[in-house]
Amino acid sequence: MPEQSSTPEKPVSKRVRTRHFQNAKDNGIVITGLTSYDQLSAQIFDEAGIDFLLVGDSAGNNVYGYDTTLPVTVDELIPLARAVAGSVSRAFVVADMPFGSYENSAEEALHTAVRFMKETGSHAVKLEGGVRSADKIRRIVDAGIPVMAHIGFTPQSEHGLGGHIIQGRGEGEAQLLADALAVEEAGAFSVVLEMVPAEAAKKVTAALRIPTIGVGAGPHVDGQLLVWTDFAGFSTGRIPKFVKQYADLRGVLTDAVTSFREDVAEHRYPGPEHSYD
Ligand code: KIV
Repeated sequence: MPEQSSTPEKPVSKRVRTRHFQNAKDNGIVITGLTSYDQLSAQIFDEAGIDFLLVGDSAGNNVYGYDTTLPVTVDELIPLARAVAGSVSRAFVVADMPFGSYENSAEEALHTAVRFMKETGSHAVKLEGGVRSADKIRRIVDAGIPVMAHIGFTPQSEHGLGGHIIQGRGEGEAQLLADALAVEEAGAFSVVLEMVPAEAAKKVTAALRIPTIGVGAGPHVDGQLLVWTDFAGFSTGRIPKFVKQYADLRGVLTDAVTSFREDVAEHRYPGPEHSYD
């Protein structure tokens, strides 16, 4: 990955490109990714040196308040992707193609990918599915748009898969490998492995030329991705086993907002230092 260097006067940061993903894998450098849906988080993650930001359809749960990612539309994700892409100087921004925006045909997939690239300034798109999505990946890549593939547990197929179930166990390992090889062959520059056993992810990572990005895939992958509201302790409800919570932002914000409410109620805020003469 390109170094993030800075001088006191002027920060210099080189944009992450698809070739850096491949260089990272080839040189054993681990890739880091987080989801982001807005300007503030994007700026912070970019400045902290996170390599790529995914404007995930997990915005369905984390921005729009849906129960699943299924209702999210292209029109809902485009403003979020534009905000994220417009807020970073180094990180590579990947826009997620939501359910219903690419499954019909390779042409539909290309149409959606072109919208994301033209209307948001993202640097790549992501779509779910291995063998079944290979023709769509090929068509998008042929048009010059980088594709991050996504296999293993694919949340858009949650009902077809029978719930949040780990993929690639037992006989499923052969399918996982077939999916991984299919997306590499179709031209994807990287592939997300979601909720798969660590050993299966290790085998896939060894079999592929392109980097694997794990989200719940153990340590033997080329990069790690987390949903930011999970890792920062913002999310409520069921947090998957694979998530490490690095902060308790829900607790911090709850304390802050409670203090604000109490200060206002008790006439402690605003004080003279917050008032104009
Ligand atoms: O939308 C999302 O956040 C994702 C990741 C969990 C891979 O697709």
